[in-house]
Amino acid sequence: MITSLITGAAGFIGSQLAHRLAKNGERVVLVDNFSYGRKDNLIFEDMDFTDQVIIADIRDTAKMRELFEQFNFDYVYNIAGIAPLPDCQSDPQEAIAVNVGGFANILELARIYGVKTVIQASTNAMYENETQFPTTENFQHLPTLIYPNTKYCAERFAQSFCDTYNMNVACMRFANVYGPHVDCLRKQPPFVAYMVRELYYDRTPIFHSDGTQRRDYVYVEDLIDLAIAVRACKGFDTINCSSNTSYSVNEMYAIAQEIMGKNIPADYASDAHYWENYPNLYKGAYPIKDEILTHEIKKYSLCENTHAKEAYGWEPKVGMREGLTKLIAAEIDLLDKYQH
Ligand SMILES: NC(=O)c1ccc[n+]([C@@H]2O[C@H](COP(=O)([O-])OP(=O)(O)OC[C@H]3O[C@@H](n4cnc5c(N)ncnc54)[C@H](O)[C@@H]3O)[C@@H](O)[C@H]2O)c1
Repeated sequence: MITSLITGAAGFIGSQLAHRLAKNGERVVLVDNFSYGRKDNLIFEDMDFTDQVIIADIRDTAKMRELFEQFNFDYVYNIAGIAPLPDCQSDPQEAIAVNVGGFANILELARIYGVKTVIQASTNAMYENETQFPTTENFQHLPTLIYPNTKYCAERFAQSFCDTYNMNVACMRFANVYGPHVDCLRKQPPFVAYMVRELYYDRTPIFHSDGTQRRDYVYVEDLIDLAIAVRACKGFDTINCSSNTSYSVNEMYAIAQEIMGKNIPADYASDAHYWENYPNLYKGAYPIKDEILTHEIKKYSLCENTHAKEAYGWEPKVGMREGLTKLIAAEIDLLDKYQH
């Protein structure tokens, strides 16, 4: 039986991946330190992983070694990470420790115990300074913010391991991932979950900038198809996981309103409100530069996915309307259940 380790399994993507692999009849070993994860993510209609998840930190070498020793993993999915940009910006030491140091721990154990392929949750956020679109895996300009830099460094170390030891590591650079998850219940959910929640309660959502900023979105089920396909990776590889289609906030909002049968014009806040919940970034001798925030809000993303298609036979299948329809149905169920 194929056995995979999934770190970050109580998060959005990790939990969905666990569900799919288990449904495929594989054995999954789930690890999370619950710094961001939630048990509710692990409850599916047909399966409940809440008692199965091992509470551990990917930096804990002794604990992780025990798991590698015990389970003899075929594949390791390192989905654990600190993803919110302002969190990484506010605590760079922790971001680097988890996103780079934690991954180095996983790589070293994968080397010792002979894992067939390590699959790393990387990001297209490292293309933040690109000017040519769609962006390919061979990008030109290094990123500025802490978060994409941690993921970029993690990739560099993965390459170092592959070059030195003949290992196989597939770094999947995810575009904006969307799909059903419990974030709609959080105080400050990310954009898609926030939009659905506000519409559910007939409230006016507040978007940053003017809502015309466009990004590349990939549906979580498509991402998982690719996460399975890249097990075939030989040596080191970086693979864009994207739809190569961009949508603006306003376009997605219009589709969501149509699906939910609502007609609530959105409000727009100035860039200055972005990250206002992180006052420490605006304090100190050197506060964050205004142009950095503006650049992040207005950031355009569109990522080429030819490499994933040609090397791994993958094709994104879920279009925006279909994806939003599935996501909205799941989030309405959740909101009905919890009445948050
Ligand atoms: N969601 C996206 O749009 C997106 C886009 C690009 C890349 N990614 C990357 O994909 C991964 C998963 O993203 P997500 O949206 O599911 O985020 P998430 O926050 O829902 O999941 C990450 C999980 O990792 C866990 N974790 C964090 N530090 C840990 C540690 N030291 N040890 C063990 N577990 C730890 C958290 O508790 C959380 O459950 C992240 O690494 C993120 O950087 C996500």
